[in-house]
Amino acid sequence: MKKYKMNKEKSVELLNEAIADELRALHQYMYFHFHCDDKGYDLLADLFKKTAIEEMQHVELLAERVLFLGGDVEMTVGEKVTQEQNVGKMLDKAKTMEEESYEMYNDFARQCNDNNDSASKRLFEQLVDDEERHFDQYDLEEDNMQKYGDNYLALQSIERSKTYSSGQPGGVQGGGQ
Ligand SMILES: [Fe+2]
Ligand SMILES: [Fe+2]
Repeated sequence: MKKYKMNKEKSVELLNEAIADELRALHQYMYFHFHCDDKGYDLLADLFKKTAIEEMQHVELLAERVLFLGGDVEMTVGEKVTQEQNVGKMLDKAKTMEEESYEMYNDFARQCNDNNDSASKRLFEQLVDDEERHFDQYDLEEDNMQKYGDNYLALQSIERSKTYSSGQPGGVQGGGQ
């Protein structure tokens, strides 16, 4: 039976590496959220925040698996935040990060398969689906920016002004909600 045994330490190592990547994304997207929110670009501010929340949920799923396998959660932050405030470059950076993540998770899924750890493999495959969807969402916004130029950003600011002036609940305090 020994030859079917899983190397738990190997899986824990991959899961912790993934947590570092998720924390990096979470920090980066919140940084982008703060700046988009500050400029009144509510649509983009919301997208970055919602995606950051999903990355946090990914951290949770990965951490649960680490603990199940008897390891500990390292919570290492993968990389320092890039202080980019140009919206086009923010979307570029976000797309690159998603691409790096789903490529890495595809490889991790394969490694977990080789390591007889099908539950971690399925988790990584689930993350690949989510990161590809995140990529698509950022790509769509980048397309919109290219198509509509500055009008795309101006419209978002105008929408917020309308919300403020009509006194809709959540408008003033919402801050990108
Ligand atoms: Fe993620
Ligand atoms: Fe993502």
